[in-house]
Amino acid sequence: MKVYVDQGLIQTSSADTLIVNLFAEGVSLRGAILALDQALEGKIQLILQNGDFRGKKGEVVVVYPHKEIAAKRVIIVGLGKREAFDVEGVRQASAVAIKRAVDINAKNVATIVHGAGIDGFPVNLSAQATTEGALLALYRFTASKQDHEEERKLESIRIVEADESKISDIKEGVRIAEAVVSGVYLTRDLVNMPPNVATPTKLADVAEEIANTYNMNLLVGDREWAAAHQMGAYLSVAKGAGEPPKFIVIEHNGERNDLATVVLIGKGITFDSGGISIKPSDGMGEMKSDMAGAAAVLGTMKSVGILNLPFKIIGIAPCTENMPDASAYRPSDIVTASNGKTIEIISTDAEGRLILADALVYAKKYNPMAVIDLATLTGACVIALGKGIAAGLFSNDQNLQEKLVASGEVTHDRVWPMPLWDDYKKAIKSEVADMKNTGGRNGGVGASAIFLKEFIDYPWVHLDIAGMAFSDKDDAYIPAGGTGYGVRLLVDFLRNL
Ligand code: BES
Ligand code: MN
Ligand code: ZN
Repeated sequence: MKVYVDQGLIQTSSADTLIVNLFAEGVSLRGAILALDQALEGKIQLILQNGDFRGKKGEVVVVYPHKEIAAKRVIIVGLGKREAFDVEGVRQASAVAIKRAVDINAKNVATIVHGAGIDGFPVNLSAQATTEGALLALYRFTASKQDHEEERKLESIRIVEADESKISDIKEGVRIAEAVVSGVYLTRDLVNMPPNVATPTKLADVAEEIANTYNMNLLVGDREWAAAHQMGAYLSVAKGAGEPPKFIVIEHNGERNDLATVVLIGKGITFDSGGISIKPSDGMGEMKSDMAGAAAVLGTMKSVGILNLPFKIIGIAPCTENMPDASAYRPSDIVTASNGKTIEIISTDAEGRLILADALVYAKKYNPMAVIDLATLTGACVIALGKGIAAGLFSNDQNLQEKLVASGEVTHDRVWPMPLWDDYKKAIKSEVADMKNTGGRNGGVGASAIFLKEFIDYPWVHLDIAGMAFSDKDDAYIPAGGTGYGVRLLVDFLRNL
């Protein structure tokens, strides 16, 4: 999909379909849409007078010109009440409009920048959100589908703005959006791939492609490498895996010791059957998404590469399946992590914290100013915050926490702070080892975070993305399946560091 930025009047665009917007509460037409309505000889005004369109959020009406302008159709999308309109509203409006455009056979669309010209909406942000909303909404995962006959496809999007002084800001917004969306698409693809395709080896291959394209360093540690690094926690999970485990480390600006270092860690369980503590079969298939943290890290590294961000940014993805097998680890095993701490296994289904433990220890060698891990870690977090609402955030650093909350707010890849109190330690106290890998039923998300804290001694944020990685329903710009959660959050965080 090509996105162009044109300076001009939308009614003179050569696109076959135009997209404009209106707020609710029938305020009089002004700006771009007033000029368009005049070109259309009052057709829009007529629709409003008849009460056929009220500008409600997500409402769409299609107007058919009768040769007054070159375009075949004009889509008007409602923005809802002006006082409730925000940058997320821009994304949603853009998404809803573009989906309707595709549905009615548009090939080349011209859109105004939703939000541009409204107080408090910087033009670059509005352009970024307009582009993101459209491109993210157009995403489809069709890699294994062979019948594409019915599919309608858009060829281009032109962002049209009359005011020349806004053009360079719009171009900048589009540039950022395209880089971010490219990362989100990769993350969604990896999560949507079936677990027999998105294996640890596949994730390592994707990391290699990113490293080659954007000139990054890559290390892919195999079983022997992990053993040499005494990663007993990670390897215990990998013991029952048929697919070879891969510990992926990808470095952007790896040699630049003059730059501040941020390490991103993503849980890469390519399928979580629960292992010997096997999960119920109902819904087990969704556990192909248990590598969404790793996928978000790879997607973010791709965006980081495209934008060539001026920091040393390290992506780490410990990857393996969690499977039951004669050689699988068992409840009551005791394993030793790479920092020497011993862990009594209570449930082999609490595997994410084990693979993260060794990755968190490994991150220390970078002397990082911040380490952020993303993991589909606990069902308890989904119960606490809901599905598709926010990731649970745990941090030992107030400043990092505030920055991530702020990035979550603007991107709508939201995070919400949860307490990292030592009181949770009691739950994972073991009689036979330094800790257990699970506590009791209550406070399961706090227990998982306090477990991870045993493996860090640097500024750190843990994001439990269990409720965010995979969606079972279509949303404005997030189709069902892998959501790509985390990429937009992390790129915004890194750009504002
Ligand atoms: N991958 C799951 C968590 C999960 C649940 C992710 C729902 C996405 C959606 C994780 O490995 C797991 O099994 N967690 C257990 C922990 C328990 C055994 C302490 C859980 O949440 O039940
Ligand atoms: Mn599990
Ligand atoms: Zn898991």
